[in-house]
Amino acid sequence: MKYKLLGRSGLKVSELCLGTMGFGTEAGWGATKEQSFEIMEAYANAGGNFLDTANIYKLGTSEKIIGEFMHPRDRDYFVLATKYSLLDNKTNPNASGNNRKNMMRSVEQSLQRLQTDFIDVLYLHIWDNLTPIDEVLRGLDDLVRNGMVNYIAISDTPAWVVAKGNTLAELMGWSQFIALQVEYSLLQRTPERELIPMAQHFGMTLTPWAPLAGGALTGKYLRGDFGRIKEGSNRLNERSQSITKEVVAIAEELGVQASHVALKWTMQQPFQSIPIVGATKLSQLQENLKTIDVTLTPEHMQRLDEVSAIPLGFPGDFFKEEGVRLNNFGGFYDKIEKR
Ligand SMILES: NC(=O)c1ccc[n+]([C@@H]2O[C@H](COP(=O)([O-])OP(=O)(O)OC[C@H]3O[C@@H](n4cnc5c(N)ncnc54)[C@H](OP(=O)(O)O)[C@@H]3O)[C@@H](O)[C@H]2O)c1
Repeated sequence: MKYKLLGRSGLKVSELCLGTMGFGTEAGWGATKEQSFEIMEAYANAGGNFLDTANIYKLGTSEKIIGEFMHPRDRDYFVLATKYSLLDNKTNPNASGNNRKNMMRSVEQSLQRLQTDFIDVLYLHIWDNLTPIDEVLRGLDDLVRNGMVNYIAISDTPAWVVAKGNTLAELMGWSQFIALQVEYSLLQRTPERELIPMAQHFGMTLTPWAPLAGGALTGKYLRGDFGRIKEGSNRLNERSQSITKEVVAIAEELGVQASHVALKWTMQQPFQSIPIVGATKLSQLQENLKTIDVTLTPEHMQRLDEVSAIPLGFPGDFFKEEGVRLNNFGGFYDKIEKR
């Protein structure tokens, strides 16, 4: 296992993050407590230290299982990331959203479930389109100053909101978001339009969620075993299937599993990227850990990029047009080394 610095910080995290959304058997799928313990034990034994959870995962069960696992072990070894924003009490209008009241309440309850007195990385889970971003940043900074949280990060939020938040935080001397969590995989490349360039600009690490598209990119659903993915999902449509078939073909050429190819594609990007990979069985985690030793050649990367290409839309595609560059920059544009 190699370690990377998370965003513009000195925090060292393993190159694969363990997603724990499937810890708990609520909603008819997921790992039991015993299976979750086995998965975390194997992950830690392989050098993994970065765990991703949320207040909402399995209605708090994921955090509770992690708390029970970490409590008798070495809490300090783990870089524990959790999230706030999503509803965990249906009778209280302030028990959801990005507002300060919910942030404080949610963090207090997460700490209890996790049996710890600090969170290493607190993510805003999803943008609510209601709360002013200065309220969010000021609240998060207070949590950092009082020692309940070490670093802050953000997930599922428009690029302009994150950019405004980090710029404001820099001006005010507040903590800035160091990681950006978005759905990113060979089946979901739209973050390349605005979110990823924004993250690069601010030195944030991308933490792709669902890097295996919920299991679709392992190729197992091509065989008709739908598991937790519902029939009719975009992850199983014609386009998704042709991408998955290319992943399977490359895996066969390399003598590895499709999951290794799909996961490694998210890790070999020209920006810092630490995928959050889920597992509901020990065997899946053991398989996914082998990705670390797999290397995709430039030719494999190109084939994967081509089969999964998306239009960037405006203005991305407009900027790429040769005529636009020639007319506006007098032929110099292509001679300049880009940052
Ligand atoms: N910020 C957000 O909004 C957000 C949203 C979703 C997830 N997340 C985070 O991202 C993590 C990962 O997301 P995810 O679980 O949806 O997606 P994922 O990592 O793409 O898929 C994980 C699923 O793929 C299957 N799988 C994994 N390894 C496998 C292997 N080697 N062979 C066969 N099947 C395998 C399992 O499905 P089965 O259980 O069906 O066997 C597993 O539950 C979550 O745990 C969570 O921490 C964040």
